[in-house]
This record gives sequence, structure tokens and C-alpha cells, in this order.
Amino acid sequence: ATERTFSILKPDATRRNITGAVNALIEGAGLRIVGQRRIQMTKAQAEKFYEVHKERPFYGELVEFMTSGPVVVQVLQGENAVAKYREVMGATNPAQAAEGTIRKQFAESVGENTVHGSDSQENAKLEIAQFFQDSDLTA
Ligand code: CMP
Repeated sequence: ATERTFSILKPDATRRNITGAVNALIEGAGLRIVGQRRIQMTKAQAEKFYEVHKERPFYGELVEFMTSGPVVVQVLQGENAVAKYREVMGATNPAQAAEGTIRKQFAESVGENTVHGSDSQENAKLEIAQFFQDSDLTA
């Protein structure tokens, strides 16, 4: 079925000026960017977004990284978009990411791993709602 997923091009991507190259891989996989905005996340936004990881040892570092520079928040639409985007991103740890994936090609480390993508349809809806209004999205 046609779905939407939420994506973030992280500060390591904006810093290296590779957002277009990442978008080319996204679009090449058949996903359509139906909403996109470049923002500087506030600490409060990053803390809320990553709240599920609050007890993890890397939470502080994660929030600090995600606010260290601009990010591009996106909504991607397509057939099985949630699973498809996770495939296109590759494993969280770039050392384990498959050939041809965004993280294999661009990610620097498990923390600075270029992209975020929702892990379920339920989370996709929540994450999209944190950054976009429905009227911002058009296919
Ligand atoms: P993301 O999909 O954005 O959601 C949680 C993030 O935590 C994940 O991508 C990684 O970038 C980050 N993360 C996971 N494990 C570690 C780790 N060991 N150290 C730093 N960051 C991590």
C-alpha cells in the first residue's frame, strides 16, 4: 500500500553539502519527497523526538549532535515507504550497511549516520506530526 514515512537528513549531511546526493538515492529508490524543510532543531525538539532513547547512554550525545547544525526534515511517500526507506538507508552502523545504501555510501559512524527513518507506520505518523501539518504535504 502507499505509505508515508518520516526522514531526517542529519547535521553530518548538511555540513558536507550532500543533501542532494542523498535525495537522489531516495528518489532513485522510487520514494517521493512530498514535504521537505531545512531547520535548526532546538534542544527541546531533539529531546522530544528521541524521547524513547532517553535512558540510553548515548542520548545526550545524540541530542547534542542533532542540534549541532541544520537538518532537513522530510516526508517520503511510496509503496511500503517505511520498510523501503529502511532498506535504502542501510544498517544503523555504517560498518554493517549493505552496498548501495545511503549509510554505506555516506555515514561516518553509528552516531553521525546521515539519515533517520521511521521504524513503523505508527511512529511515522507521530514523527510526521511533530514537524509537518497535513496541508504542508502534497504528492
Ligand atoms: P536514528 O535512527 O536517528 O535513531 C536513534 C539514533 O541513535 C540512531 O539513529 C543512531 O544515530 C543513534 N545511535 C544508536 N546507537 C548509538 C551509539 N552507540 N552511539 C551514538 N549514537 C547512537
